[in-house]
Amino acid sequence: ANGYELLRDYSKGFRIGAATNTIHYSNSNYNNAMKAFNYMVAENACKFVSIQGTKGKFNFNDCDNHLKKAQELGMDFRGHALVWHSMAPKWLENEDANTMKNSIINHITTVLKHYEGKIDTWDVVNEAIDDSSNGNGWNMRKSFLYNKVPNFIDIAFQTARQVSPKTKLFYNDYNTEGIWGKSESVYQFVADLKKRNIPIDGVGIQYHVSLENNPRFDKINDLISRYCKLGVEVHITEMDVSCDKNCWASDVEQQQGKVFTNALQACLNNSCCTGFLVWGIGDNDSWIGGDKKGLLFNSNYQPKSQYTAVLNLL
Ligand code: XIL
Repeated sequence: ANGYELLRDYSKGFRIGAATNTIHYSNSNYNNAMKAFNYMVAENACKFVSIQGTKGKFNFNDCDNHLKKAQELGMDFRGHALVWHSMAPKWLENEDANTMKNSIINHITTVLKHYEGKIDTWDVVNEAIDDSSNGNGWNMRKSFLYNKVPNFIDIAFQTARQVSPKTKLFYNDYNTEGIWGKSESVYQFVADLKKRNIPIDGVGIQYHVSLENNPRFDKINDLISRYCKLGVEVHITEMDVSCDKNCWASDVEQQQGKVFTNALQACLNNSCCTGFLVWGIGDNDSWIGGDKKGLLFNSNYQPKSQYTAVLNLL
């Protein structure tokens, strides 16, 4: 027993998860804290550079090890991510347009076949919309992918659907919470994919936020409900709530808890929202770093008040 109640015991089958990393599995407190969840995503191990750091040499060891741990703990597993401009190998960046296109197709094909029947949901494309997007249409991120293969998104989704028809295919991005500039643009972009019959099944809202950009979270419920009407699923994929100033004020954790429960409530309100994940287990291993206290467990992997707030909502 963990000495505290587990989120998974209250989630009634709803997928509530966390990003984990094999580098921490030897820590028994970390292992116990993982058991609070019923859904897992690998923080880094299933990314392009992690699996195919050398062209043509697919190394699934670390991604497999995450999946194995999830299976041991009775957790479902989420795939992240097939195509992303970041954490992509240098060799890919240096290829000419046609070779790069074929490499994208080959990567998606090989990875989806390897995990066929084991991972039912993948982020197919990550972070392709530019931050300058203001809700009036959208600007593509001018990444090496876009610059060489402007239709890489269509190709990625079409390839994924063809290789693995049952896999749920997601587009995942940040700064997409609520209804404001970039999130509105991402909505329009997804609506356009649907309109053009590009096979997309869901949208991942990363939800890396800090208390200081709180106002834009207000409309998260409206945003998710619009996605439902559009006919896509939604996951909140990478939530953390950092704090930039006055972080030792006594009500900081309580405020963070409210941001978590506001997002989770919006997800639970809308039946097309089928998963909710935080980006890390304890504050110490958060990618945000520093002393920002952005996750549900503290550095010793004991639940914080944010954890209790989430638990009480389930
Ligand atoms: C981050 C990891 O947490 C870090 O360990 C790594 O150095 C960089 O990537 N959006 C995403 C995630 O989709 O894959 C990123 O994860 C965080 C932002």
